[in-house]
Amino acid sequence: MCGITGYIGDNKTTDILVDGLKRLEYRGYDSCGIAVVDGKNSLYLKRVSGRVDALDKLVTAEPVKGAQAGVGHTRWATHGAPSEDNAHPHTDCTGQVVVVHNGIIENYLDLKEKLQAGGHKFKSETDTEVIAHLMEEKLKSLHVQEKSARAEMIEPVFFEAFRRTVADLKGSFALSMVWSRCPAMLLAARMHSPLVVGLGKGENFIASDVSAFLKYTKRVVFLNDGEMAAVKKDGIDFYTFAGKKTAKESVTIQWDSTMAEKGGYKHFMLKEIHEQAEAVENTLRGRLLPLGGNLLETEMGLTAATMKGVSALQFIACGTAYHACLVGRVLFENFGIPAHADVASEFTDRAKLMNKGTLVVAISQSGETADTLFAVREAKAAGAKVLAITNTVGSTLTREADHVLYTHCGPEIGVASTKAFLGQLAAIYLLAGHFAAARGALSSAEARRYAEELLKIPRLIEETLEKETEIAKAAEAFAASEHFLFISRHINYPIALEGALKIKEISYVHAEGYAAGEMKHGPIAIIYKGMPLLAVAPTGRTLELMAGNIEEAKARGADVVAIVDAASKKTIKASRYIILPETGELFTPMLTVIPLQLFAYYVALAKKCDIDKPRNLAKSVTVR
Ligand code: F6R
Repeated sequence: MCGITGYIGDNKTTDILVDGLKRLEYRGYDSCGIAVVDGKNSLYLKRVSGRVDALDKLVTAEPVKGAQAGVGHTRWATHGAPSEDNAHPHTDCTGQVVVVHNGIIENYLDLKEKLQAGGHKFKSETDTEVIAHLMEEKLKSLHVQEKSARAEMIEPVFFEAFRRTVADLKGSFALSMVWSRCPAMLLAARMHSPLVVGLGKGENFIASDVSAFLKYTKRVVFLNDGEMAAVKKDGIDFYTFAGKKTAKESVTIQWDSTMAEKGGYKHFMLKEIHEQAEAVENTLRGRLLPLGGNLLETEMGLTAATMKGVSALQFIACGTAYHACLVGRVLFENFGIPAHADVASEFTDRAKLMNKGTLVVAISQSGETADTLFAVREAKAAGAKVLAITNTVGSTLTREADHVLYTHCGPEIGVASTKAFLGQLAAIYLLAGHFAAARGALSSAEARRYAEELLKIPRLIEETLEKETEIAKAAEAFAASEHFLFISRHINYPIALEGALKIKEISYVHAEGYAAGEMKHGPIAIIYKGMPLLAVAPTGRTLELMAGNIEEAKARGADVVAIVDAASKKTIKASRYIILPETGELFTPMLTVIPLQLFAYYVALAKKCDIDKPRNLAKSVTVR
C-alpha cells in the first residue's frame, strides 16, 4: 500500500509531487511527505501526519524554490504508528540520503541492530529508515565523503551504493531514493510491489501507479521484480539487481487523467456507481460469442480445445473481487463445470491440490494485491495455468498470468470497489458463456440467447440507477442503526456478502451477510425489533425459500427492505421494496448489487463518513 511519486525535470517539482500524491491517496493516507533537492545540493524535507491536503498547505506556506528533483509518499502504516516521525521520506544520519518505500523490509530488525551498533541513530519506528542508513554505509564504503568529489564520479557511486543497498534487503519493496549530492538522478527499485516510470519530454516521473502522472504523460514503463531504474531528466536506464543494463519497452496508457476526476459527483464512489453501465458495456464490447466473433479467444489465447480440457476452475481473490469469484462459481456450476472459489489469503494448502487440468482464475481490480499474487505463484508452482481478470494494464498479475482478460472499467478511485466489481462480473459472464458454448453446455441457440441477455444488462443497470432516490430514503431511515443484516440465496448470496462489506467499509457499522437458509442455524438469534434486514429476492429458483426466510426474520422483529423485481414482489412481504427491472435469474447479481452499493453510500453520507477514503483502509493492498 502507500503511494510513491518521483519527479525530475524543470517544472514545478513540489507541485507535481504533491498533485501525484493526491491521486495516490487511495493507496493510504495516514501521513505523507516530500523531499526535494535543488541544484546546490540542498535537500528540503516536508512531512505531515494526516492527509495530502495538509502537506499541500505546508508546501504552499513554505515554498521551495529551485527544486529540480524529488520524491513523495503517502503512507498506510505497517511498522510504526501514523505520525510525522514515521512519515516518509526517511533520511540517513547525514540528512543527505532520502528514501520513500512501499512494502515491508522483512530483515529490518537485523539490519537495524547492526546499523545501531555501528553508531546510526534512528528517528522513526519504521522498517524503511534502515534503507537510508544502509545507503549511508554503502556510500561511505565507496569513499565519497569528500565534498570535492567530481560530479561525473557521483552518479556511478550513487548507483552502485543503491545497488548494494538493495541487494541487502529482504521482503517486498518499491523504493525511490534521492541523494542531495546527486540532484541529476533519482533511483528506483522494485521487488513484489508495483512501480512504474513515466516518460516525459525533458522530465521523467516515478510512481506506484500511473494515475499519479497521467496528466503529464501516458508513455510508461512498468518495472518488473528485480529491476532498478536510474531516472534523469533526459532519459532513463534500467538495470537488473545485479547491475546489468536491460532494455525495456514502453506502453501507452489509454486512460485519460480526466477519467479519474469526480465529474460533478460529490464522491468518486457515487460517480463510479453511476459509471457501471458503461463499465459493463466496455467490458463486453466486441467479445460476445456468438454475436461478436471470437475476439475473446484471440485476446486471451484460450482456445475452445483448452476450455474443453479444463477439469475444474479455481477462483481466487480478495474482498469484493472474492465475491465476484463466488458468483463465478455458481455460474460455472450451473453449466455443469466444476468450480471452486477461495479467498486468496486462505488458499495455502489448497494450492498444492492444483494440477495441469485446473484453470486458476485470479480476479483483481488492481492486479497488485499481494495475497492474490502469492496464491497465483503457489498455484503455478503446482502446475496450474492462470487466467487473470483485472482492470489494470501492465499490473504484476498480468505479467505472471498465462492468460489475461481485461475489464475495461477505467480507473477506480473510491476505496470501496463498485464499478470494478461490475466489470469483474461482466468478465465472468463472458468467460462462462464461452466455456459453456465450447463444452456444449449451451447449444448455439442458447448461447445466442445468453449473449443477447447479457447485452441488455447495461441498459438494465441504467434503469436500476433510476431507483436512487428511493434507495437513499431507505438508507436515511436506517442510518442510525449500528447493525445491518443482508441475506440471499444461490447466485445472489455473494451479493448479500458484498452489501454487508460495502456498508462496513464506508459506514463503520456492524453488518453481516448470510446465506438466508443458514440464518435459522444460529444467526437469527441476533435479530432484535427494528433491526434492518436487506433481503435480495429476485425471481428465481430459491424465491419461495427466501420468502420463508424473510418471514422467519420478520417474526423476530426484523424490518425488511426487499430487493425484488415486479414478479417476485408478489411473493415477498416486506416493509419497503426496491423494485428492479427483470432479467434472467442467472444475471440478477449485476442488478441486485446496485441498490446495496447505493444503500451503503447513503448510510455513510448520512453519518458524514469520509466515503472515498474510509478509515484504516487502502485501495490496493500490497502487503500480506
Ligand atoms: C472492497 C475492496 C476490497 C478489494 C480487495 C481486492 O470494496 O475494494 O475488498 O476488492 O482489496 O482488491 P483487488 O481487486 O485490487 O485485488
